[in-house]
Amino acid sequence: MKEKNSPSAVVSETNSPETSHSSMQEAVQRHWQGVVKRRSFLKGLGIAGATLSASALLGTEGNAQTTRSTANLSKGDAALLRFAAAAELIEADLWQQYNELGGVQGGNPAYMGALSNLDGDMPQYISDNTDDELSHAAFLNAYLISKGEEPVDLDPFRNLPSSQATGAKNKGRLTNLLKLNVDLSWYTRYRSARNPDFGAKLKGPFTIENQPAIPLNDTDTPPNQPQPVPPANAQESRMQAIANTAGFHFAFIEQGGASLYPTLLFKATDPEVLRILVSIGGVEIDHFGLWHDKAGNAVNQPLAGVTDPVTGLTFPDLNARNSELDQTNAP
Ligand SMILES: [Fe+2]
Ligand SMILES: [Fe+2]
Repeated sequence: MKEKNSPSAVVSETNSPETSHSSMQEAVQRHWQGVVKRRSFLKGLGIAGATLSASALLGTEGNAQTTRSTANLSKGDAALLRFAAAAELIEADLWQQYNELGGVQGGNPAYMGALSNLDGDMPQYISDNTDDELSHAAFLNAYLISKGEEPVDLDPFRNLPSSQATGAKNKGRLTNLLKLNVDLSWYTRYRSARNPDFGAKLKGPFTIENQPAIPLNDTDTPPNQPQPVPPANAQESRMQAIANTAGFHFAFIEQGGASLYPTLLFKATDPEVLRILVSIGGVEIDHFGLWHDKAGNAVNQPLAGVTDPVTGLTFPDLNARNSELDQTNAP
């Protein structure tokens, strides 16, 4: 799916696991500053409009004049991009934790096995989603810098602990995946005939509270245990429940992005800012759609019915309810 010199390839953690975070970020920043400059140059030549979709979205003629950005961003447009950059840094922090343990070069085979029980593509998709979030954050900050604006830096807040399990890097985090509540209302929101805009309160099909989404340590969750379907003992059930929680959390994260960008983009005034928000927003919607589909496999036979022996959380068989609101193959 990825082109050879695509931004996501540049920021790929999976291709260069030894690369330090800061040097990777510098490389990404340099790359994106180059992209932004190159696109400005192309626009100056008046040829960019022919290949840009934002002009079509705006219903304009699609020439360079109509899509050209002003030299400086308005206060509001800069704030929109900074908000998005902060959200992307948080998204990236979540996905980096998942990628270290369960990505295509993940360091925890039992976790990777349990995730793969949801779908054989899980490690690859985790790695690609991680690359996307890193490139979103890097692009937004590089664009802000190119416009003379302050980029967003959340590094002072990277103070939360890492997992102690094999595969996890021991460094400060922005987010906590070790004990979380997952809002599952997205599962029913997009298939219900009721409308949240008219006051409908939609609940998820079950509840995930105080549950880890990544393995905590090697005692609780041995990194090399097998992960049969269904799990055959308490430790296998524990790891499978953790992976199932991750499967539902993936869709929760991306539902956030899928609803954030359409909300922000209506407030943009500069066509180029609009184009950035539309473009990243489309990727977030794609992420949400695919994770929604994969999560359903945790609550479908033959995997349905796993109970976490530590927290007591059970992943029910949602198809047994015989309802369109719950069935696991509905988008
Ligand atoms: Fe993103
Ligand atoms: Fe995303």
